Amino acid sequence: MKLTVLTYLDSDDENSKEYDPVVTQVARTLRGLGHRVSILGVHGDVKRLISGLSRRRPDLVFNLMEMFGDNVFGDIPVTGLLDLLGLRYTGSGPGELYLSQDKGLTKKMLAFEDILYPRYAVFSRERAFETGGNLRMPLFVKPLRSDASLGIGGKSLVHDAMALMERVAAIGKELNDAALAEEYIEGREFYVGVLGNAQAKALPPVEVDFTGFPEGVPKVMDSKAKWDERSKEYKGTKSVLATLPDELRARLQKVAVDAYRALRVRDYGRVDLRLTDTGDIYVLEVNASCYLERSSEFAMAANAMGVDYPRLIERIVNLALERYGGRR
Ligand SMILES: Nc1ncnc2c1ncn2[C@@H]1O[C@H](COP(=O)(O)OP(=O)(O)OP(=O)(O)O)[C@@H](O)[C@H]1O
Ligand SMILES: [Mg+2]
Repeated sequence: MKLTVLTYLDSDDENSKEYDPVVTQVARTLRGLGHRVSILGVHGDVKRLISGLSRRRPDLVFNLMEMFGDNVFGDIPVTGLLDLLGLRYTGSGPGELYLSQDKGLTKKMLAFEDILYPRYAVFSRERAFETGGNLRMPLFVKPLRSDASLGIGGKSLVHDAMALMERVAAIGKELNDAALAEEYIEGREFYVGVLGNAQAKALPPVEVDFTGFPEGVPKVMDSKAKWDERSKEYKGTKSVLATLPDELRARLQKVAVDAYRALRVRDYGRVDLRLTDTGDIYVLEVNASCYLERSSEFAMAANAMGVDYPRLIERIVNLALERYGGRR
């Protein structure tokens, strides 16, 4: 098959070949599976995106677009454009991506299915204040839509209204996003990958091991813990395959699949969960079309289930094709 791996470029030099590592990994894997593969990297030039796709006319786009130009939500309209161009692509479409990126909307979808989530309030500049009831301090304040722990750090956990309003203002100013304040869920943190459509199946849960985390700091995966390789937070955390009693593993997997379905995620995604001492499982967020890098939690979990990287990538391709009716 003729496949195009579609990706964003950080730099506005549209000829730069500095791709996210996952791009070359996926492209190489697809070639290894016998496909004819091209990579199309675009920063923020729509004409270039359209002409690149029209020239290549792929049977399937492997979509690794995370943003468009400087717009961190630009991955959503890009999938809409792929739909308009009549192209088939892996992962969720504009509607599904929109639902899961907005963590307030996500909760409303979860509520209908009786899935547990932290109680919350949304502070938006355009719309009225929105809340699901009385909230108990401390609260965790994060951007409503941004991901990758953007805007999440030492000040995210607030204990009073003053600190809350300061964070809300800072998120509006720095990220131009509404703010979401949620009840802080103390407990173990799990990432559960889900693969499939009509028969979505959960992968083995991965747990964040906070053992090496600095004392006295709330145990959360903030931007330091995720990206600052020299920080104590980064060095003090690692993702490991969770060792769990069967019953608990099955419960985590069920919540993950339920949340994945509630958000109508297509092909693949990852659900971030917290488990309290009393055994309640809270959904923190659903990541449709989650990160697929070889050492990501998703790939690691698939591998633990006997699905190695090439088989995982092949599975995603086949799931997408099946959705479109399996025709070439
Ligand atoms: N309500 C909460 N209670 C406790 N910890 C939380 C809560 N919300 C978020 N966190 C912590 O902050 C981290 C990042 O939050 P979240 O997953 O919502 O953001 P994100 O930036 O979208 O992440 P990702 O990079 O996974 O897309 C979580 O992994 C968790 O450690
Ligand atoms: Mg997350």
